Amino acid sequence: MKEYNIAVIAGDGIGPEVISEGIKVLDEVARLDGTFKFNFTHFPWGCEYYKENGRMMAEDGIEQLKKFDAIFLGAVGAPGVPDHISLWDLLLVIRKNFDQYINLRPVKLLKGAPCPLKDVKEEDVDMIFVRENTEGEYAGSGSWLFKDKPNEVVIQDGVFSRKGCERVIRYAYELAKKEGKTLTSISKGNALNYSMVFWDKIFKEVGQDYPEVKTYSYLVDAASMFMIKDPKRFEVVVTSNLFGDILTDLGAAIAGGMGLAAGANVNPERTFPSMFEPIHGSAPDIAGKGLANPLATVWSASQMLDFFGHEDWGKKLIDIIEQMLVEGKVLTPDLKGTASTKEVGDEVIRILNS
Ligand code: NAD
Ligand code: IPM
Ligand code: MN
Repeated sequence: MKEYNIAVIAGDGIGPEVISEGIKVLDEVARLDGTFKFNFTHFPWGCEYYKENGRMMAEDGIEQLKKFDAIFLGAVGAPGVPDHISLWDLLLVIRKNFDQYINLRPVKLLKGAPCPLKDVKEEDVDMIFVRENTEGEYAGSGSWLFKDKPNEVVIQDGVFSRKGCERVIRYAYELAKKEGKTLTSISKGNALNYSMVFWDKIFKEVGQDYPEVKTYSYLVDAASMFMIKDPKRFEVVVTSNLFGDILTDLGAAIAGGMGLAAGANVNPERTFPSMFEPIHGSAPDIAGKGLANPLATVWSASQMLDFFGHEDWGKKLIDIIEQMLVEGKVLTPDLKGTASTKEVGDEVIRILNS
């Protein structure tokens, strides 16, 4: 029997609540399939760990995670710990150390999901964002000069390497080619006269190897307007780390909300584990109340199944989410339901067995 060793970092706030539903669903899929199983190893890392140990993960945390086939992450961040510490020392350090340079974020409006846009059909919102995930605006390069003095200055560099841009752009072209879809690059060359001019140049260069892929290139301001006014323009989308972060929350808003938005942090070479997570945060406003929607986590579990080559099960989970949205009976309050986090997880299991 094939075994997948998964490191679980449930994290903070609603993280543990949604991740336990995700685990439940993955275990049930494996049980029903019968040819593979998951071994979950839990790591208690996050803001509570920080408060006790002064660090977000064990000192050799990255070394410990290296041997796993994948990481399943809930959410990170809690009041009382500065966000730039909690996120940099756990989530971002994993993305970077494991060279998870592709962040795949589907923005797909399922039947039954609430969409705030007027006159939009499901098929009009069906995008996949390929977000650069290790450098760009998140490179962590910069300085803070004359701190706390009247003349203090901060500099935050955007770092766009040729290798870093080429590989994410090439990945997006390959995906668009494989799926027979258009590819849209989102950048900001009119104002960011080094980084984004360079990005646009590489988008064109790499494109020469893909004459069959129809491309578009938008400025990020116009792109955010078009995502609202005319979302069907977008199919496969490639963009930088920060733009991808912002636009995929916008994407979540037009595809049913944060409770449905998933992301896969992929190391395509599989030298290191990839990491699967809902894209929402720890939602301190609803944590501990059983109100969190676990379906984004179930969707990320579906991405994990795809990653391991079990696309049939991956699709099955998306179909189940869609069925639950259409039926509208067992949903959390963000989707106008009255069910708890656990009841939604139980319903996924029930449908899997039906
Ligand atoms: P958030 O995503 O946690 O919450 C934004 C809003 O969406 C809140 O109203 C919340 O209740 C709602 N929401 C989010 N997920 C939901 C779910 N599954 N079901 C129902 N409602 C949901 O974003 P925020 O409030 O900006 O950030 C809170 C903390 O999370 C901060 O510390 C932030 O840095 C961190 N954060 C972590 C991650 C991550 O771990 N991947 C991502 C984003 C933010
Ligand atoms: C996300 C999150 C992270 C990001 C934060 C928490 C650092 O917002 O995964 O979308 O900006 O990448
Ligand atoms: Mn984000």
